[in-house]
Amino acid sequence: MMNCLQSWPEPVVRVQSLSESGIRAIPDRYIKPPSDRPGFENQEHVDIPVVDLKNLFSHDRTLHEETLKLISSACKEWGFFQAVNHGISHELMKRTREVWREFFNSPLEVKQEYANAPTTYEGYGSRLGVQKGAILDWSDYFFLHYLPVHLRNPSKWPSLPSSCRLLKAMSISLGLKEDHLQNAFGGEDIGACLRVNFYPKCPQPDLTLGLSSHSDPGGMTLLLPDHDIAGLQVRKNGNWITVKPVPNAFIVNVGDQIQVMSNAIYKSVEHRVIVNSVKDRVSLAFFCNPKSDLLIEPAKELVSEDRPALYSPMTFDEYRLYIRTYGPRGKTQVEFSGSNR
Ligand code: OGA
Ligand code: NI
Repeated sequence: MMNCLQSWPEPVVRVQSLSESGIRAIPDRYIKPPSDRPGFENQEHVDIPVVDLKNLFSHDRTLHEETLKLISSACKEWGFFQAVNHGISHELMKRTREVWREFFNSPLEVKQEYANAPTTYEGYGSRLGVQKGAILDWSDYFFLHYLPVHLRNPSKWPSLPSSCRLLKAMSISLGLKEDHLQNAFGGEDIGACLRVNFYPKCPQPDLTLGLSSHSDPGGMTLLLPDHDIAGLQVRKNGNWITVKPVPNAFIVNVGDQIQVMSNAIYKSVEHRVIVNSVKDRVSLAFFCNPKSDLLIEPAKELVSEDRPALYSPMTFDEYRLYIRTYGPRGKTQVEFSGSNR
């Protein structure tokens, strides 16, 4: 499977260029089958939970415990929550989005210098997966891997303290030692990467998706969504819930590796992105991943006779080959590895 990840199976088309060309109808390559189109299923009007992280550090024990419980129930029932009072400067969040918008609005020649390949996906890209003739998503992106954390100065690296705290909170709320998840992911060698998504305006938003349904293959994701435009939808009871971004919140979600380590107590939930004809949208997805060559398996503490291990050990390197080859395909992968033990 590695060999087919050398190059793209067909010439790459930048979705932003298509959008800016003024076409009235989108090419067939972007038209989803009816059952995958937005609005096909019921839309439910509920919101994902909001967690005030300031309460996690409160000296009021009750408030602290209640916040842990809130995180726990959000990770069990939704796989998603919005985090407010995370300590990251709102100005920095805004500026980061602006800088990336500037990048996507720079001349094509400039962006093409960073054109990516499916070997590592790093750089400027327009598709996930290498299946020839696949139906594509209406978005471009920029993907970056970061060095192992021990080479990084956390005071210069804004999202990290927050993600470490969240991994601790998730460990504790699973009944594990506070450093369990961080250590199982490789301690200081935990992986971290960023995907900046750019969803151009689309003349026929009802026929396509900005990002097809998927669950995140990694450990935990922190998403910085655009401030005034919705797009992310989360699956709940078979319906798609459109997330209304709370001002200055990060959207946090459980990835497949935490579903595996928690032995499916915490859920990595399917989500997708819809587009619109009015405004382009930028989002930054910061992924916390296990060090790529460590075996990931359910925590011993969460395995018992009544609740046997649902997944067999696998490295993240092996695991992510699936999405890198086939592109986003709902939750098929974690379900498959579950039934394949
Ligand atoms: C992702 C993702 C959601 C969004 O990048 O994995 O789910 O709103 N992004 O862009
Ligand atoms: Ni995602």
